[in-house]
Amino acid sequence: MEEFDQFKDTYSEKITEAIAFSGQSHDFYIRIKVNHLLNTIKRKLADQSSKQKTVRFLDVGCGHGLIHRYLKDHATFDIDIYGIDPAATVIDFAKEQNPDFTYKINEGTSFPYEDNSFDIAHATCVMHHVEPAAWDDFLKEMKRVVRPGGQIFIYEHNPYNPVTRHLVNNCELDENAVLISARNLARRMKSTGLLRVKTEYIIFFPFNLQIFRVFEKALTRIPLGAQYVSYAVV
Ligand SMILES: C[S@@+](CC[C@H](N)C(=O)[O-])C[C@H]1O[C@@H](n2cnc3c(N)ncnc32)[C@H](O)[C@@H]1O
Repeated sequence: MEEFDQFKDTYSEKITEAIAFSGQSHDFYIRIKVNHLLNTIKRKLADQSSKQKTVRFLDVGCGHGLIHRYLKDHATFDIDIYGIDPAATVIDFAKEQNPDFTYKINEGTSFPYEDNSFDIAHATCVMHHVEPAAWDDFLKEMKRVVRPGGQIFIYEHNPYNPVTRHLVNNCELDENAVLISARNLARRMKSTGLLRVKTEYIIFFPFNLQIFRVFEKALTRIPLGAQYVSYAVV
């Protein structure tokens, strides 16, 4: 049984318990990440000279697909959402919640799609559940399924943020987690052949006022945010 199958019905509950001390809901963190993701994708699309058709978006390790509805509803471009995860019961749950998106099970680090199938591959809080010995293969799969010129986005916990470490140490879902630093991830992304690798730190203030999001935009290079995103071009 995949590790996350046991959390089919309690995944959100476990996260809610672990982040309760921050005073914010899981939705709050989802919104920050998805807004950041959408803004970055929009900027990249605007940089491309050819008009983008519907964006084919793969969410690797999508879990319950909790970001998918918000992502679809807030995208200002057409987007088709695909999710994969090795935990079968988790994928069943995602399908029930979001019948208009496409979900499949993946076997370990091998993804059930042809080369160049997507414009974007994204993974949030997945790599720390992949064995370190398989990190490079995981990145190679992310690269393989994205077309040349497409994008990869990886959101991860920042091991240098003490609040994040507290959360990971107290979350049942993270019992076997091995956190990866932004520097380590960026180095591996580059050696996988990904181009223009960039890192931004996010979530410095767990407060639900827009002004804090504005401050955070000025802090993206300070390696103390609770999480970070490393993104690159294929
Ligand atoms: C903490 S959950 C994150 C779920 C979702 N991305 C989110 O942010 O809500 C980690 C997920 O990664 C999945 N996972 C673990 N190893 C994986 C792998 N090798 N490939 C893809 N997904 C994996 C787990 O089954 C689990 O659903």
